[in-house]
Amino acid sequence: MSQPTFTARKIASIADASTACLVLPMFDDLSLSKELAKLDKRLAGTLSRALELGDFSGAPGTSLTLLGDKKIQRVLLVGCGAVKKFDAENQKKAATAIGRSVAAGKAREALLYFGDLSVEAEGLHRLIEAVATEILHACYVYTQTLSKPKNLPNLAKVNVCAGALITTAKVRAALDAGAAIGGGVNFTRELGNLPANICTPTYLAKQARALARKHPNLSVSVLNEKKMRELGMGSLLSVGHGSDQPSQLIVLEYKGGKAKEAPYALVGKGITFDTGGISLKPGGKMDEMKFDMGGASSVLGTVKAVADLNLPINVVGVVAAAENMPSGRATKPGDVVTSMSGQTIEILNTDAEGRLVLCDALTYVGRYKPREVVDIATLTGAIIVSLGHEACGIFANDDDLAEALLSAGQRSQDRGWRMPIWQEYQKQLDSKFADMQNIGTGTAGSVTAACFLARFTEQYKWAHLDVAGTAFRSAPKGATGRPVPMLVEYLRGRAGQ
Ligand code: BES
Ligand code: MN
Ligand code: ZN
Repeated sequence: MSQPTFTARKIASIADASTACLVLPMFDDLSLSKELAKLDKRLAGTLSRALELGDFSGAPGTSLTLLGDKKIQRVLLVGCGAVKKFDAENQKKAATAIGRSVAAGKAREALLYFGDLSVEAEGLHRLIEAVATEILHACYVYTQTLSKPKNLPNLAKVNVCAGALITTAKVRAALDAGAAIGGGVNFTRELGNLPANICTPTYLAKQARALARKHPNLSVSVLNEKKMRELGMGSLLSVGHGSDQPSQLIVLEYKGGKAKEAPYALVGKGITFDTGGISLKPGGKMDEMKFDMGGASSVLGTVKAVADLNLPINVVGVVAAAENMPSGRATKPGDVVTSMSGQTIEILNTDAEGRLVLCDALTYVGRYKPREVVDIATLTGAIIVSLGHEACGIFANDDDLAEALLSAGQRSQDRGWRMPIWQEYQKQLDSKFADMQNIGTGTAGSVTAACFLARFTEQYKWAHLDVAGTAFRSAPKGATGRPVPMLVEYLRGRAGQ
């Protein structure tokens, strides 16, 4: 995968620049600054004529490519909306439009000029960061299992000039941060997109090891089935029982804070393929269950981004990886297993397997005495009924943590919406043959799934993100990299940034 590199530049006058593609974000008042008026003159009125024709409105996320001359070959106008409403939403729309246009174009190099935007330094910083993230996002193409990859972007180099409002060093920092987030998102997408015959629990462990090798502050340990049996993880192990692929519990430790400081914990559902097990799923769209490790891949992508950002906090990332298959050894409906917490579970439906791997991983992570724990899982089809593909479900036993995730989602435009985990729902999980059963009795499926997890997380502040509707798309089919932007923003907030 080739990705463009970013450079912060100072340019005396934009009219004297040479570039294959000059990118100009503009507000919807469409006023030409002194610099842009100079440029317009240089280009024999190309800019002002396009604006007069009304071909470009400046509405957020719109764009128009104009032909330039020999030195400034193309000019790409990108709409930022109203000056007075340059919020996270419009910044993201403008950034996405820039990413799409420069990734789809033929130019190998682009010059982004932010010098004349009438925004404060903070808004500009945010925009530059989002632009780096979105350019990397737009340049990502899945190629690993194609003999003849198509649609590879030409873009190799992006120069950014921000004018006098912020220093080149600050521009550099914003680009680095944006690239770290984009890199984490794309890493998550790639793992999700890989087919399940390649991306197995063992493959995820290998990727975690490779990540740890690249970062001095990262270390990894992988617990195999034998080790998990010794720890009493009967619930997690029951899920992979029918599979020939061994289950893995992957633990990544990032140490950016003080040695003794309690870590923030992320726990991901890593079902590398979910057939449903003996409670077999119907055949249609079953291929999409290769994306059932979206929680796990978002943990790996977030840890990667956090390490690249060098955040001054400690983070532990746990991935509960297993393959859910039917076979003569598979768990059967009615089987009772004992979790690491000691609580017993009657497995009435082997397709409700995510909670079974998560509950043991959540118990295990308690050993770290974490400050807060967030689990991420493609847990229920029911959350898609509730929230569609726009927002993930946020369930939490702590209001401050829920609020932190909600606002991080808003700032990063990777949004979630809070759902309840009230006691009233818990009785749906009562079982005659065990301490609880693994499915509810029919209604509020995403809530009863969260209520199940809540029984294993009482000793710490915890939130659960149900990302079944947001981690991947059916058309065009592919992993989205969500909720990496939300998680990184949440952790940056916790790191005081
Ligand atoms: N992995 C699925 C949930 C899912 C569904 C993710 C659609 C992405 C898209 C999960 O393991 C599952 O099968 N959940 C069941 C739970 C039910 C048996 C209580 C579901 O949602 O139907
Ligand atoms: Mn399932
Ligand atoms: Zn599943």
